[in-house]
Amino acid sequence: MTLIATSFILLAAAVQATNLRALTVPHECTINAIALLQIPGEAPLANEVEYGCDDGSGLFSPLHLDEIQQKSLQGLAANGQVHYGKSKINVHGATITTPSGKPISAEAKNKENAFNKFISAELDNIENALRRRTNSKASKRHFLLFRVTDSEGRVIDDSPDVMSDNVFGTNGDQINLKTQLAACSAGQYIVIPGARPPFDISDLQSARGVIDIELDISLHNSRADVRNAAISKAQEVMALKFNFSDTTSLTTYADHTLFSLENCYKDCGWAAYASIGGYYQGSYYSMAGIQMHEHGHNLGLPHSGGLDGLAYTDHTCSMGNPLYGDDLGQMCFNPAKLWQLQHFPHPWTVKRGWYNSTEDFFTVDTSSGSQVYEMIGIGEYRFQQESSRKAVALRIIVPGGRDQYIAFNSAKGANTQNVEADNLVTIVEWNTTSGYSPSSLKGYIAQGETFLLGHGLTVTAQCINTSLTPSVACVCVKESSQTCPSDCACTAPMHHK
Ligand SMILES: *[C@@H]1O[C@H](CO)[C@@H](O)[C@H](O)[C@H]1NC(C)=O
Ligand SMILES: *[C@@H]1O[C@H](CO)[C@@H](O)[C@H](O)[C@H]1NC(C)=O
Ligand SMILES: *[C@@H]1O[C@H](CO)[C@@H](O)[C@H](O)[C@H]1NC(C)=O
Ligand SMILES: *[C@@H]1O[C@H](CO)[C@@H](O)[C@H](O)[C@H]1NC(C)=O
Repeated sequence: MTLIATSFILLAAAVQATNLRALTVPHECTINAIALLQIPGEAPLANEVEYGCDDGSGLFSPLHLDEIQQKSLQGLAANGQVHYGKSKINVHGATITTPSGKPISAEAKNKENAFNKFISAELDNIENALRRRTNSKASKRHFLLFRVTDSEGRVIDDSPDVMSDNVFGTNGDQINLKTQLAACSAGQYIVIPGARPPFDISDLQSARGVIDIELDISLHNSRADVRNAAISKAQEVMALKFNFSDTTSLTTYADHTLFSLENCYKDCGWAAYASIGGYYQGSYYSMAGIQMHEHGHNLGLPHSGGLDGLAYTDHTCSMGNPLYGDDLGQMCFNPAKLWQLQHFPHPWTVKRGWYNSTEDFFTVDTSSGSQVYEMIGIGEYRFQQESSRKAVALRIIVPGGRDQYIAFNSAKGANTQNVEADNLVTIVEWNTTSGYSPSSLKGYIAQGETFLLGHGLTVTAQCINTSLTPSVACVCVKESSQTCPSDCACTAPMHHK
């Protein structure tokens, strides 16, 4: 099953200037999907993905799609015709159509409540927020963590201070969402706990970046009801403070929101899920690996499948099943994801890609002979030197099919806790479209080994040197009739340890 998620911030993406008018039309809403992260060892989830629709209020009306409808929607998403969190659909009775006219027929439950809301009153706020965002530095992202207490007093055991530390490192926590996003982006992506200026939440927050909210319902309600109750309450608390309307989107105040729930009592089996913000139950909120995985969904990244063909068993990437532990999470993303972050960054989350130079990303062309690349691992990108840049991801274009991506999976720096194919050269497949489809790990090679790529190409790890800083690998891609030059020795002058 394809797992999908989009983010809180994606909702704002639906409101670009050209679309503003469309939002006021009743029964039109933004299609969204939520990816659930299964708890290891627990029974597989009945549905690893949920679909819903958002009329702009931030609330999520579940769409109950049958198998054919889901397949149709997943196909549209995989080839870029539908963007979760962005594409509008029209709901008329049981028939749903996308702007391109493709029907997704479905029963939309509860649609009367959510779809009929008239939301033009909110547009001014959203426009202002967008204007501010355009003017602000893209790499600084403001995060709010809502600590949820339900109507019967259930709340996570950790104090707001501890939670702030576990997510934002405000009191010395070593590995968390803030540190890891900064590390994997070589300092380009900065998490700031709290609302974006000029919104001052100092008398609202119970710890830096943490706001306590109390639900009107118990956690024993359905997942969708709990989610909507949490969003409504968060909107209400913020609206009261800043004298806005209760339906003012949370994107007005911050780029991303997280919600922590004490536990799960209905529709369970998940550790966390992401779409409109990330939702975490129990202690899972504190685990850096899970925070990275969920935020990856917020950035538009799909799951990473592994050698066994399953949905999230690529353990070279945070979008596989992540590391479970408070201070476990020093792992970045596989080359397909790096390519996505660099070349197809989500317009509202990462403006120009995470990495300084697209020169570090190569589309391999063997028409004039074999190609050799010196590569570094993404965890050591901060050691990249202007005078001797190394590649971080290679792409082999496979016409009409799934492209192949190559990286040097160096287990150092931000990638120290990587748990598969440490210090090997990895090969990942992904259907490079602007759409949403998982990648799959295809193999990895050690120094001297060769992997057969698509249509007659091979990739060889000519040498790998982990005693240099950064570690370096020489990778040669060639057609069968070609030979690799032998002058790449992985001893290039660089900083030594
Ligand atoms: C709150 O907003 C309303 C209408 O937008 C306005 O009339 C009122 O004066 C505002 N109150 C405060 C305290 O700013
Ligand atoms: C990226 O660019 C910034 C600003 O131009 C510079 O300070 C930083 O060293 C660069 N980092 C890398 C890894 O190239
Ligand atoms: C890749 O996506 C395209 C649509 O962009 C689709 O037509 C094609 O079948 C897909 N290929 C594979 C191998 O999944
Ligand atoms: C790694 O590089 C160092 C410094 O150039 C060199 O002495 C060493 O032999 C190299 N090791 C490998 C395995 O290539």
